[in-house]
Amino acid sequence: MLELQSCCKSIRLPSGDTLQLLRDLSLKILPGESLAILGRSGTGKSTLLGLLGLLDTLDCGSYRVDGQETVGLCDRALANLRGRTFGFIYQRFCLMSRLSAFQNVEAPLLHRPGRRADRHKAVYEALDKVGLIERAKHKPDQLSGGEQQRVAIARALVHNPHVILADEPTGSLDRSTGTMILRLLFNLVKEAGVTLVVVTHEPLIAAQIERVLELSNGALKDGNL
Ligand SMILES: Nc1ncnc2c1ncn2[C@@H]1O[C@H](COP(=O)(O)OP(=O)(O)OP(=O)(O)O)[C@@H](O)[C@H]1O
Ligand SMILES: [Mg+2]
Repeated sequence: MLELQSCCKSIRLPSGDTLQLLRDLSLKILPGESLAILGRSGTGKSTLLGLLGLLDTLDCGSYRVDGQETVGLCDRALANLRGRTFGFIYQRFCLMSRLSAFQNVEAPLLHRPGRRADRHKAVYEALDKVGLIERAKHKPDQLSGGEQQRVAIARALVHNPHVILADEPTGSLDRSTGTMILRLLFNLVKEAGVTLVVVTHEPLIAAQIERVLELSNGALKDGNL
């Protein structure tokens, strides 16, 4: 369970002004739940996702991950908890261009203990789930946009995270590829029983997710209204 309580976050702009992105925001996300976050550009959706994924820290408030308070944890403890708990999918795939699909998916496993053979098995299983075994040796520029995003999904799932955080996962794809990627993501998430938080501008995505919240003026409100 992810539990943000009375949290706030502001950002210092290059002009020297401060932009208050989140104000006294509270949010509880239950295990296995799927949640879509909508909102206008620049409202702080990616910032919120970064906070949920422990890539960024709160200015005030509390954030508990599976009951553990994260405020005040040292970088090492945060990195451990982040690696154990979260898988990230980014809008622009963020694959490493010099690495093959296989190596990109393997990357999150490299700093973990474990045998090479087991690691390779996990990578092939993840590539198989997204239908890309036969593209394992391709580098990102030798893959279509939809294939690159499927590699990114495999990378997000390969270490069996409890929570997938997806920041506009279909933002760089055409409508039909985007729909296919989403169907795949929703099915994988359902099969694995993991929690999904997806930031999106796409009403189509939101329509497929039970719980939809809209971020506006630093607060979350029901996005179905
Ligand atoms: N490191 C930073 N330094 C200064 N300003 C930043 C920084 N990161 C984000 N911002 C500003 O904070 C605001 C919120 O950014 P954020 O990326 O969270 O918005 P968003 O809701 O994800 O927008 P979009 O829908 O366009 O992706 C924006 O106005 C952005 O310019
Ligand atoms: Mg964003």
